Amino acid sequence: MRVLGIETSCDETAASVVALDGDGAPRILSNIVLSQVEEHAAFGGVVPEIAARAHVEALDGIVEAALADSGTELADIDAIAATAGPGLVGGLIVGLMTAKAIAAAANKPLIAINHLEGHALTARLTDGLNFPYLLLLVSGGHTQILAVRGVGDYQRWATTIDDALGEAFDKTAKMLGLPYPGGPNVEKAAQTGDASRFAFPRPMKGSAQPDFSFSGLKTAVRQAATAIAPLSDQDVADICASFQAAVADALADRVARALARFRETFPGTKNPALVVAGGVAANRTIKATLERQCAEAGFAFVAPPLKLCTDNAAMIAWAGIERLREGMAQENGFDFVPRSRWPLDSISTPMVGSGRRGAKA
Ligand code: KG4
Ligand code: ZN
Repeated sequence: MRVLGIETSCDETAASVVALDGDGAPRILSNIVLSQVEEHAAFGGVVPEIAARAHVEALDGIVEAALADSGTELADIDAIAATAGPGLVGGLIVGLMTAKAIAAAANKPLIAINHLEGHALTARLTDGLNFPYLLLLVSGGHTQILAVRGVGDYQRWATTIDDALGEAFDKTAKMLGLPYPGGPNVEKAAQTGDASRFAFPRPMKGSAQPDFSFSGLKTAVRQAATAIAPLSDQDVADICASFQAAVADALADRVARALARFRETFPGTKNPALVVAGGVAANRTIKATLERQCAEAGFAFVAPPLKLCTDNAAMIAWAGIERLREGMAQENGFDFVPRSRWPLDSISTPMVGSGRRGAKA
C-alpha cells in the first residue's frame, strides 16, 4: 500500500509518500517540508493570506518532488490523503483542492484527514506503538492531552483555555525583542539565565480542572520586563530561564494528572506510554522534565524525531494508510469541504479563544 500525503494547514507546505509493505512495517519513502518561516518572520507570526499564497506557489513542485524522491509513479499510488482541517482555511483549501484534482485525474481515492489525527498516530509510524496511549500535543496552535484509543477513537482530556504553549513562547520572545519563531530563541537565551530570579506563576497548578492556561504567565512576564526595562542581555536570559521553568512546572502538574487518569481508565495496559508531538517538544528543559516524570510513573516516554513531531505530510499519508486498512476512509472524499475547526473528539466542547489561530479544537 502506498499513499501520497499533502499538508498545508499552517505555514509548512509538505508532501510525502509512505508505504506499508507485506511485512507490516511502514516506510517513509519521501518527506518534503517547505517552511514559510522567512515569509512570516517580519510580521512576528503567521499571516494567513501570505501563507495561502505561498502554498499555491509551492505545492505542485513539492508534490512532484515527493513522488520523484520516493521513486513512485502516480499510477502506483493507492490513495491521496490530504489535511482537511483544522487550520487556516486558505491553506486547507489549497491542499485539499490540489489533492482532489490529482486524485480525480489519476482516478484514485481521496481521503480527507484531520491534522490532529496525523499527530496522534505518528508514534505508530515511528515506534509501532499499540493502542491505547497518551498524547501531549504542544505546538504553536495546539496544547492538548489526548487519550488515543484507536484509529478514529480519541478522547480529549485537556486543552488550553487561552493561549497555546508555542504561542506563549512566541509572545514572550516578541516582548523581549527576540526574533521569530520565539521558542528556540527563548530556549537559547535561557541557557545563560537564572531560573530562580523571577517567581512566575505556574498556571492551573493544583487545579482539579485538567486544562492548560498560559495567558496569565504571559502577563506576568510582561509586567516583570516592564518593571526593570531597559533590559540587559542578562535580564532577558533570566526572564527566559524563569519563564521556561514555570512552563515546565505547570506542564508537569497537568501531565501528572493525565498519567494518573490513564492508569485508572486503562488499568490493563501493559506498557503505558506518553507520546509528545508539536514544535515545543523540541525544548530540552520540557523534554527532560517529562522524561523524568514518565520514568517515575512507570510510563515509556516516546518522542518521535522532531521532523515528524512538527508539521509534515508523512503523518498525513500514514493516517491515510491507517484509515484505509481499517476500512475507515470516507466513501467519497471528494465531497469533503475544509474545516477550519474540527475537534478530534466530537464530544469535547470547543474552548473559546484558545490558540493564536482561533479555537481550533
Ligand atoms: O509544531 P510546530 O512546528 O508548528 C505548529 O505550530 O503547528 O510548532 C511551532 C511552535 C512555535 O510556537 C515555536 O516557537 C515552538 O513550536 N517551538 C519551541 C521550540 N522550538 C519550536 N518552543 C519552545 N522551545 C523550543 N526549542
Ligand atoms: Zn501541527
